[in-house]
Amino acid sequence: MLAGAGISNPGRSLGGSPRAAWAAADSPAPARQVADGAEQVELIAQEIQWELAPGKRVTALAYNGQVPGPEIRVRQGQRLRVALTNRLATPTSIHWHGVDVPIAMDGVPNMPTPPIEPGDTFVYEFDARPAGSRWYHTHFASTEQLDRGLYAPLYIEPETPDPNPPDREYTLVFSAWVTGLSAPVPDPSGGGMMNGGGMMSGGMMAQTPGPAYDTFAVNGKAYPATAPLTVTQGERVRLRLINASGMRHHLVHLEGHRLRVTHTDGNALQAPVEVDTVPIAPSERYDVEFTADRPGAWSLHDLLPGQTEAGLRVPIVYVGHEGTPEAPLRTSADGLRSWAYVQGRGVDRLPDPFGARRAYSLTLSGGMMGSSVWTINGKSFPSTDPFPIGYGDLVRLRVSNMSMEAHPMHLHGHSFRVVAISGRSLAAPLMKDTVDVRHMESAELEFVADNPPGDWLFHCHKTTHMEGGLVAVLSFRQGGPA
Ligand code: C2O
Ligand code: CU
Repeated sequence: MLAGAGISNPGRSLGGSPRAAWAAADSPAPARQVADGAEQVELIAQEIQWELAPGKRVTALAYNGQVPGPEIRVRQGQRLRVALTNRLATPTSIHWHGVDVPIAMDGVPNMPTPPIEPGDTFVYEFDARPAGSRWYHTHFASTEQLDRGLYAPLYIEPETPDPNPPDREYTLVFSAWVTGLSAPVPDPSGGGMMNGGGMMSGGMMAQTPGPAYDTFAVNGKAYPATAPLTVTQGERVRLRLINASGMRHHLVHLEGHRLRVTHTDGNALQAPVEVDTVPIAPSERYDVEFTADRPGAWSLHDLLPGQTEAGLRVPIVYVGHEGTPEAPLRTSADGLRSWAYVQGRGVDRLPDPFGARRAYSLTLSGGMMGSSVWTINGKSFPSTDPFPIGYGDLVRLRVSNMSMEAHPMHLHGHSFRVVAISGRSLAAPLMKDTVDVRHMESAELEFVADNPPGDWLFHCHKTTHMEGGLVAVLSFRQGGPA
């Protein structure tokens, strides 16, 4: 479409419009201008040297020289135009995770848009919707590119401003790194922990080989290099949590405070759910709030074994308590109340279907005996059978996980309702775009196919599982499936 549309040279104007000059590149914040009613952002992907923590330097891949990349904020319905220049040695692309973009802007290589070759610029352009905590990330060679830093927050502000905004807001992006500079932290989540609310059975299952993550970061820094979050007594504080880790879950806990879950993948709950810990699977987002009512110095950290020690920890310090040592950390989630999908009551925002009703069953397996092959209904992508859908259809997906690892399944181009987890119906379905289906559990989802036409992916967001074939195609044809 707009590829190569005369802006391969940053700083030059776009399409001859005098108002459309692109601001200088390489700034830490995204260059932003409004032209033709569109919000314009310029991104450059390139290799950089990045310090995760003192003594821990890595060669990272970054948008605009920073990890994570710059947060983009726009109002819902705003036209967004993002020019990405690829200064990497390999092709790349951006997927707008949780955004209902047209298929040509979706960032899956050659489905249908080719990846951006080194030296080229591509302009992504779409209306920003729906509102909420979204993010953007590479969709090319994810084990290589995602794990090395090509991700960033995207926040779409609601059309009508929040009548009761929090006093303070922070965005926290979690990530996992292979530096080779410290001991790898084994993956504790394979045997299926997470949304049941308890810890998993623990290390008895053989794990498939995955990246040897040894460092975990919050906003690109590992503790003690994480930037402390400042709060003032009495404030209501919102945290936007984004899990950009390629393969790892996190079990988020704030010492001394309870967290109120208000949004799942950016979508509002009817009422906040108060918990002690929030499990967050790869690519999920949670907006949580807490009341700053215990002055002192605390930490937000990860209760999965080894991950706090490997860097996933950020100090939360009340004004007037700077320099106070942080309160001791809990090391286990025993006795804590954990968020689980079945506790939430979502606000449904699916449009009314205007096509057929369809239901498909997907059985996820693979990874046996250390294999890196993953299957849906016995087949591995690109050999998986496509699921035909038509415009306006109400599509139900029944996903059963017969493997030993959790699979955070993400749908492109649409949000869905989480209708049931392991046969247990939700009182009011959650709105999400990723559902973590645990070991030997199942999930039932529903979405309305109102983003025509195209081949939309539904895949596990764990990078090696996606690359090992855990990918289905929802094959969307105008006028309905043949
Ligand atoms: Cu966030 Cu296909 O991915
Ligand atoms: Cu998976």
